Amino acid sequence: MTTDETAPSGNKTGPLPFDTSKAHQARIYNYLLGGKDNYASDRAAADAALEVWPGAAAAARAGRAFLGRVVRYLAAEAGIRQFLDIGTGIPTAGNTHEVAQAIAPESRVVYVDYDPVVLAHARALLDSHEAGATEYIEADLRDTGTILTRAAGLLDFSKPVAVSLLAILHVIPDADDPHAIVAKLTDTLAPGSYLALSHWASDLLGQEKQQGIRDSWNGRVQQQMTWRSREQVERFFSGMDLVEPGLVPVEEWRPAPGATGKDSSTGWGAVGRKR
Ligand SMILES: C[S@@+](CC[C@H](N)C(=O)[O-])C[C@H]1O[C@@H](n2cnc3c(N)ncnc32)[C@H](O)[C@@H]1O
Repeated sequence: MTTDETAPSGNKTGPLPFDTSKAHQARIYNYLLGGKDNYASDRAAADAALEVWPGAAAAARAGRAFLGRVVRYLAAEAGIRQFLDIGTGIPTAGNTHEVAQAIAPESRVVYVDYDPVVLAHARALLDSHEAGATEYIEADLRDTGTILTRAAGLLDFSKPVAVSLLAILHVIPDADDPHAIVAKLTDTLAPGSYLALSHWASDLLGQEKQQGIRDSWNGRVQQQMTWRSREQVERFFSGMDLVEPGLVPVEEWRPAPGATGKDSSTGWGAVGRKR
């Protein structure tokens, strides 16, 4: 994939080069979560974002907490035993297989990411409970054919699978047609499968902050952000019934008892069940 933001993102998919001179979404997220797997370029980009949007770290934590609640719901209440987690991120506490296998040890989890730093840490993702299994695929979300073919080595797509696309689609520009990408994935799924998704919200974060981050990241971060509205995010769930409470700010999706944080909401989140 190109690191030149002026070039169309088009079909140039595939693992990214190991370039730490330019910040990367996975490592910025790691820094915002308090992790150590990031470089000076990532920290500078994250600090620039924090200047215009002081709530960025809280939003990252809220996104990660959403992942935990979603996977717990899918394993404990929806009875899902197969997970395809695309845009895994650098392993941190509460990875998908840890949450799922704590409830159902036989759970099978396939992880997908295109950042070589995530690959370097993939060992932590492959530390499966012996009753289940995990796999790591280095691939670009836009290459759905490769992802589905390789994931079928571990997952049985004739049975329900939960696909999670958490905090990833906002780095897929409109030019790459993210709705078509998601449709290619969900079309393959058996009825009773799930799609879990979170996405930075153009209608929850002020225009000034969005522009400020765009300006401060322009030329120094490998991805550019595309904030999307509630209506645009809802369209990802076409052909699905949304699980209660529907599409809401991530903090409001089945919050833990006593949880607060409504004010820092900047991302839409939902879980849909395929009819
Ligand atoms: C912000 S992190 C989210 C991690 C995790 N899903 C969560 O919600 O805690 C987004 C991840 O998506 C990955 N990513 C972004 N664009 C991608 C693409 N086109 N293909 C594969 N992975 C991608 C990044 O490398 C990063 O690790």
